[in-house]
Amino acid sequence: MHEQIIEQRAAALAAIASAESLDELEQVRIRYTGKKGELTRLLRALGNVPPEHRPELGRLVNRARDEVEAALAGRREALKARALEQKLREETLDVTLPGWGPLPGRRHPLTLVLDEIQRIFTGLGFEVVEGPEIETDYYNFEALNIPKDHPARDMQDTFFITDDIVLRTQTSPVQIRVMQERRPPVRVIAPGKVFRVDADVTHSPMFHQVEGLYVDRGVTMGDLKGTLSTMARELFGKRPVRFRPSYFPFTEPSAEMDISCIICNGDGCRVCGYEGWLEILGAGMVHPQVLQNGGFDPEEVSGFAFGMGVERIAMLKYGIDDIRLFFDNDIRFLRQF
Ligand code: PHE
Repeated sequence: MHEQIIEQRAAALAAIASAESLDELEQVRIRYTGKKGELTRLLRALGNVPPEHRPELGRLVNRARDEVEAALAGRREALKARALEQKLREETLDVTLPGWGPLPGRRHPLTLVLDEIQRIFTGLGFEVVEGPEIETDYYNFEALNIPKDHPARDMQDTFFITDDIVLRTQTSPVQIRVMQERRPPVRVIAPGKVFRVDADVTHSPMFHQVEGLYVDRGVTMGDLKGTLSTMARELFGKRPVRFRPSYFPFTEPSAEMDISCIICNGDGCRVCGYEGWLEILGAGMVHPQVLQNGGFDPEEVSGFAFGMGVERIAMLKYGIDDIRLFFDNDIRFLRQF
């Protein structure tokens, strides 16, 4: 028994010294001084030794257990300190490293184009106004001479909220709202969002238009051509424009304005469909019925109106070939402007 005590003591001390983690150390404790541990077992076995050997062996096993317990405690502290040190080392932050500079924002290409259009027209004496995006059938269609059976009201084009309320399909209803509120002369542009059931590389269900309206005594088609040619020169630089006859229910006569293709300069290419011209807006002399719907007397005043798509202008101006890029908000796209 004497030898067993010496052996177990030595084995326990060696195991403690080589334990590399607190878990491992706990296993060692259980193995030697736990309830069924080697030294505990020897202590219990004292009952079976002859009484004359008991005091000596008792002292020996108690001392061995005390030594082992002290070694366990010492090793536990050392391992704890080591774990803490390692944790601190892993979590070190170098606060002297340079930080991330804030990324400066850019204005969206549509905002840039809209701002430019507004700058041009305010310079010509136009005022910027707005109208609601949710419109009644009356303002979006009826008052603009678009009767109930007009194809523009088709379910495929218009987002209906109720039979009588729509997401506006154009900014033209603002023409009526402005006329009903003012007396001539009226000189306004109305930028804003419009909505149509349509989506591909050049159509988005939500897009932007700028409406223009000028009503006064003696406004002519010459005023329309002069104003819109001036705008085109400011927007796209000096390049040929042309006016083509067209049709809108709320203007008479109606026209569309083209600029010579920015890609091929009029020679014909894929972008202009080999026409040499790119359409940029619709316009015309305000229909007498529409003037009347706005509360104006067509015998006294006349006017012109126009509407243009902001995305289309931005696509031409910046050579962007997919309208969806405007709405993806990919920072790599937006940072180019
Ligand atoms: N509202 C027409 C459209 O969306 C454009 C337009 C506006 C035409 C004003 C003539 C006068 O296509």
